[in-house]
Amino acid sequence: MAAATTLSQSPKREAFGSRNVFILSAIGSAVGLGNIWRFPYVAYEGGGGAFLIPYLCALLTAGIPLLFFDYAIGHRFRGSAPLAFRRMHRVAEPLGWWQVLISVVIALYYAVIIAWAAMYTWFSAQLSWGAGNEEAFFGGEFLQSEDVKDVGISTTFVPQVGIPLAVVWVVVIVIMAFGVKRGIGRANAVLMPLLTVMFAALVVQSLFLPGALDGLNAFFTPNWAALADPAVWASAYGHIFFSLSVAFGIMVTYASYLKRKTDLTGSGLVVAFANSGFEILAGIGVFAALGFMAQAQGVEVSGVATSGIGLAFVAFPTIVSQAAGGTIIGVLFFGALTFAGVTSLISVIEVIVAALQDKLGWRRVRTTLTVSIPLAIVSIALFSTTTALVVLDTTDAFVNAFGIMAVALVAVVVVAWVLHQLPRLQDHLNARSSFRVGILWRLLVAALAPIVLGYLFVTGLIEKISEPYGGYPVWFIGIFGWGMVIALVVFAVLLSVVPWSKHSHAKDDPDYDAFLADEHYEPNPETAAMHLGAQEKGAGA
Ligand code: ALA
Repeated sequence: MAAATTLSQSPKREAFGSRNVFILSAIGSAVGLGNIWRFPYVAYEGGGGAFLIPYLCALLTAGIPLLFFDYAIGHRFRGSAPLAFRRMHRVAEPLGWWQVLISVVIALYYAVIIAWAAMYTWFSAQLSWGAGNEEAFFGGEFLQSEDVKDVGISTTFVPQVGIPLAVVWVVVIVIMAFGVKRGIGRANAVLMPLLTVMFAALVVQSLFLPGALDGLNAFFTPNWAALADPAVWASAYGHIFFSLSVAFGIMVTYASYLKRKTDLTGSGLVVAFANSGFEILAGIGVFAALGFMAQAQGVEVSGVATSGIGLAFVAFPTIVSQAAGGTIIGVLFFGALTFAGVTSLISVIEVIVAALQDKLGWRRVRTTLTVSIPLAIVSIALFSTTTALVVLDTTDAFVNAFGIMAVALVAVVVVAWVLHQLPRLQDHLNARSSFRVGILWRLLVAALAPIVLGYLFVTGLIEKISEPYGGYPVWFIGIFGWGMVIALVVFAVLLSVVPWSKHSHAKDDPDYDAFLADEHYEPNPETAAMHLGAQEKGAGA
């Protein structure tokens, strides 16, 4: 009797308040740092206007099909990444943990970029960097960067980074502790409209800057020759996974919080096109501003166009210093970056919280604190020191090339070719959706995706083996690059052999039992033990 009582206390699985809140949250996750600071430069480098061709191909042939793949797994098997893969088949559980661990690494560094953006919103209001001093201010006064070649892994704490980083973690932990509906759903319902208005205002403001047209010309003028370069296609495909938040467990987890009768593919199309719309808008805004900067400095746009961190924290502050109304541009840009980052970060942390909640059967607040406090401590310890920039650059490059790409590759091969699950997932997608998927979807997931991902993985491997990434010392790349990506796989396997708690949803999930009954699904005999909660309760009583 005691066992039955305990089992029945297992908290009910959470859900989004409505499909619209889910869509908003999925867009919130997709639209992040990747859209604002990565896309404009990737597009410009990849042939400007001509890049739209590989970009659209990547979106339609890999991004959207894999988004549907993630939705189908999360929704059909109603679980966090490890539980969903485990319910599909016992051998697939490590894939879920691999995605969880990738999310751990991303969360650690993603939070610090948000902290920088938040500080720069404040700095923009008073032009704290001093005109002409933007680069020296960012690397010097603000980050106090040192080279790992000279100092090894530094433990010198940089308070102007560490304190806002702690604040970012507190805000995120509070949102997470409120749960899916009241925390994540509400945060997105507030932040996403705000982000959209701010970003639209920023783009309009940028378009009125002198020289904006030169920037747009540089951005959109097609360089057709770029299309013959396989690296351009690879960068389009590489970009789309991070941008759409596919293959690191987010969309699996979010889809598991959707009600049974939901239009999955229709929602996916809205999310994917909203994300791309935002990205293209970001390209327009950023290049209009760069056009102004080029004109002000009397150089070509190519002379000022730069990527990632340099674009956001050196080029943009320069624009803010030089433009009339620059302060408004700065506050809008860095404020938008902060909000876009927060809505993505909560989705990354949700992958980890949901997985632990499923595995241990704990309640929301306890799991959130147990996951997030250690994450916050490690994030602050690693990324508010004087060598943070180098650690961030390396972990970001490796987790993308050998984490996200690798898990996506293994997941499609295992699900499609080893477990033969695609027909079942296709039926699930088509059961309620407005947009039906067919043989083409299966071909794209089972054949094209592994080819493209395999190519990206191998070229990334050759590139990173042939010369030490970023010219950093070999011991350093060994720890934060290769060591980290190998550790993810080892720990994923270890976590998958830890037994599931008897209080976990995996064993006591009347909602999932009802779901299977409703859909007339035959439980997979391999995983039957994972969802026969009712029988176990009976036995316990
Ligand atoms: N999709 C998120 C981004 O673009 C993670 O930053």
